[in-house]
Amino acid sequence: MAVDLLLGLQWGDEGKGKIVDVLTKDYDIIARFQGGPNAGHTLEFDGHKHVLHTIPSGIFHEGTINLVGNGVVIDPVIFKRELDNLAKFNLDIKKSLLISRKAHLILPTHRLLDAASEASKGKAKIGSTLKGIGPTYMDKTGRNGIRVGDLEMDNWQEKYRALADKHEAMIDFYNVDVQYDLADLEAEFFKAVEVLKSLTFIDSEEYLHQAQQNGKTILAEGAQGSLLDIDFGTYPFVTSSNTTAAGACTGLGVAPGKIKEVFGIFKAYTTRVGSGPFPTELFDEAGEIMGRVGNEFGATTGRPRRCGWLDLVALRYAVQVNGVTQLIMMKGDVLSGFDTLKVCTAYNYKGETIQHFPYNIEAENVTPVYTEMKGWQADLTKMTEASQIPQALNDYIDFLEKELEVPIKIVSVGPDRKQTIHR
Ligand code: GDP
Ligand code: IMO
Ligand code: MG
Repeated sequence: MAVDLLLGLQWGDEGKGKIVDVLTKDYDIIARFQGGPNAGHTLEFDGHKHVLHTIPSGIFHEGTINLVGNGVVIDPVIFKRELDNLAKFNLDIKKSLLISRKAHLILPTHRLLDAASEASKGKAKIGSTLKGIGPTYMDKTGRNGIRVGDLEMDNWQEKYRALADKHEAMIDFYNVDVQYDLADLEAEFFKAVEVLKSLTFIDSEEYLHQAQQNGKTILAEGAQGSLLDIDFGTYPFVTSSNTTAAGACTGLGVAPGKIKEVFGIFKAYTTRVGSGPFPTELFDEAGEIMGRVGNEFGATTGRPRRCGWLDLVALRYAVQVNGVTQLIMMKGDVLSGFDTLKVCTAYNYKGETIQHFPYNIEAENVTPVYTEMKGWQADLTKMTEASQIPQALNDYIDFLEKELEVPIKIVSVGPDRKQTIHR
């Protein structure tokens, strides 16, 4: 059986959580393959609004297995909080949530190192979520990390001590003002580790192999977005994992040839939270409207998201790098009411007009070239059928499909599970 893949094509927060939840009914297993609690995936259904950080977005569907893959980094403290927030739903977590032994742990000192690193950079800071993501992946590739499977061994606390002591020395080295009480943080951490240990740890690559042999359907859930990919994103203003399609292979142990559909998800406009270049960013009323109507505040940090027009140069690049086979367009409802909409189809780059995503997209090098489109006025949020889509929105969709050469199969018109149109 094949594995399908859903990932973000922009700078994150495209609405991955909502769509994974919508698609879960078609899958036996939902598997997160990278990132950690830097992610905030929002689900709305039956009057509930719920934000997940580490736990896959299929968790609310009875009978679905949710797997936290080896490519994910887990902060036991945040994980425990996520579990506490799920308590009211009476889910059988021990059965429906499985954790890879090879997933790495975020330690309290990783969080402190993230803060120290950001403080030391001053204005050049990444604007990270301060969840310890960068330092944890650094320890993973530096071959110093502590993994979930280590918790089953007797000597893991010795490993922990040695690593935490080293981190403290590194924090001192940064020579910035980071206040902390490690004893307090460790008490919280060790308590949370005990909760984590009560869950089901598995050799997830073997589990997924067997699942495929047995004809189970699997959807791999991405976090962040393609433009935050450590290799292909707007480096250094990126996260520390491969958010693109290849990340699903390394983050789950799924062979490339087993991946079938690649669902690429994007907003009808663009947002970004944190630092880094953003060619179509708006500083005018249009951007303010997108932020306000779209409620563009980070699901993890609460920071306002920067907003701008849809950037097809960046989107084409993401479609290409991921091999997207189906597109999903989110938040069309937020653009209702604009007389005209702009879509960036090329960049003026150092005196030339280009259509590919160049090495450097800093504002001094790149000016977006826009095509204007007619806006739509209708309230889309009650629509459930493709036949209800207004003509101007259909024209917008047709234009994007032509430019991207991939069909748009789902149009989302509101945050709720039900506000979803299949085409
Ligand atoms: P994720 O990180 O990709 O899962 O996305 P987030 O949850 O961080 O951000 C998406 C936000 O948009 C959330 O607040 C969702 O509830 C909301 N949302 C998702 N789809 C739509 C939509 O079609 N229209 C509107 N208005 N909001 C949406
Ligand atoms: P979801 O899964 C949006 C951004 C941060 C920062 C950069 C690096 O909800 O789409 P990190 O903490 O990873 O070291 O931060 O990446 N970032 C996100 N932006 N959505 C996310 O996740 C993000 N996760 C990280 O704002 O600019
Ligand atoms: Mg998010």
